[in-house]
Amino acid sequence: MRNLILACVALAACIEYAAAVNCTVLADGNYELGCRSFAKCTGGQVSIVDCPNDMVYNNKTGVCDDAANVAAPCGNLIDCSNSPDGRYADKDQNCKTWYTCQDNKFLGHNFCPEGTVFDEGLATCNWEDAVAPPCGTLTGGK
Ligand SMILES: *[C@@H]1O[C@H](CO)[C@@H](O)[C@H](O)[C@H]1NC(C)=O
Ligand SMILES: *[C@@H]1O[C@H](CO)[C@@H](O)[C@H](O)[C@H]1NC(C)=O
Repeated sequence: MRNLILACVALAACIEYAAAVNCTVLADGNYELGCRSFAKCTGGQVSIVDCPNDMVYNNKTGVCDDAANVAAPCGNLIDCSNSPDGRYADKDQNCKTWYTCQDNKFLGHNFCPEGTVFDEGLATCNWEDAVAPPCGTLTGGK
């Protein structure tokens, strides 16, 4: 949750993720918010649950799980040992997710809001048509 909001800060028109899970209209169950957290709906009430440090959310089973059991991007723990500090697009996910390396440690993946992709130049999510390929569809000079 915290991370999704962070991803939104620099993007004026970003979608409000917090409102995306409306438990009054959803069946009881767990709904993915990010790789490390989910919204739990119980009788119309929402609670936000963070996975334990060494686990990620498994969107298939609806519980926190070992990364080895989870598909990319969440299950794909990146080796940051040779990467400078920064935020990187997940090119294997068409840049709809991104990850952070800091002090040569992998800090996890984050999701871009619907309709946006990660813009490595701005280090935030941005509209697809405002980002150069391979992540976005921006063509021509600006
Ligand atoms: C959730 O959905 C209900 C029914 O459509 C609506 O009345 C309510 O305002 C919604 N709540 C939020 C937080 O969007
Ligand atoms: C998680 O599962 C839901 C429901 O099956 C699906 O709509 C959503 O795209 C999935 N999210 C990811 C990141 O795979």
